Amino acid sequence: MEFNQLIQARHSVNQFDPNGTISREELESIIEAATLAPSSYNLQHWRFLVVDDKDKKLKLKSAAYDQQKVEDAAAAIVVLGNLKAHEDAQRIADDLSEKGYLPEQYKENVINQINGLYSNESMQRDEAIRGSSLAAMTLMLAAKDKGFGTCPMIGFDPARVQQEFNIPENLIPVMIITIGPESDPKAPRKFRFEAQEITTYNGF
Ligand SMILES: Cc1cc2nc3c(=O)[nH]c(=O)nc-3n(C[C@H](O)[C@H](O)[C@H](O)COP(=O)(O)O)c2cc1C
Repeated sequence: MEFNQLIQARHSVNQFDPNGTISREELESIIEAATLAPSSYNLQHWRFLVVDDKDKKLKLKSAAYDQQKVEDAAAAIVVLGNLKAHEDAQRIADDLSEKGYLPEQYKENVINQINGLYSNESMQRDEAIRGSSLAAMTLMLAAKDKGFGTCPMIGFDPARVQQEFNIPENLIPVMIITIGPESDPKAPRKFRFEAQEITTYNGF
């Protein structure tokens, strides 16, 4: 789909086709696209828990205040933010060096810089949420491009989701994205503030 058409077409699905399906290959290629999102130091704070089993979807629905979309969507993806993303700093610095972006002698500095910044727990949490949110948006656009609808969702109990799906404690549920064939692909565009109303130049 042409880009402008794609961003115009994406909307939060109200009604998924309860008989709709999405294959694991399709899910994987959509997630692959999401991995191209930017992240601070390229730490790629995102992880994805895909729930496509019927019973597991019902479990997730119950933790999502019984939102019907979780059951009707072909799958639900719990987007997780990694609080310990800085532990991958070495791997990322090695790649930068290999590709000639980071001279070998500065590698240690960059790793120390990352570890210093990420010793702050609120930084860990902010970046986990910021990074995985950018991946979530990329994922929703990639899904639409392949003909699937999505709905981002924060209406769920994160502690229950964490516990019911045995999510390791370094990963926090950031949002659920329900995904699948939709019944209302031509939903009208909702109200938006105009750019002029929400933009200032060079300060307030
Ligand atoms: C972080 C976030 C959380 C949301 N949570 C829910 C939710 O729990 N349930 C739901 O039906 N929609 C949810 N939405 C969808 C919003 O209502 C929707 O994005 C907004 O009304 C704008 O509509 P549009 O996405 O169709 O442009 C959420 C959206 C975002 C970005």
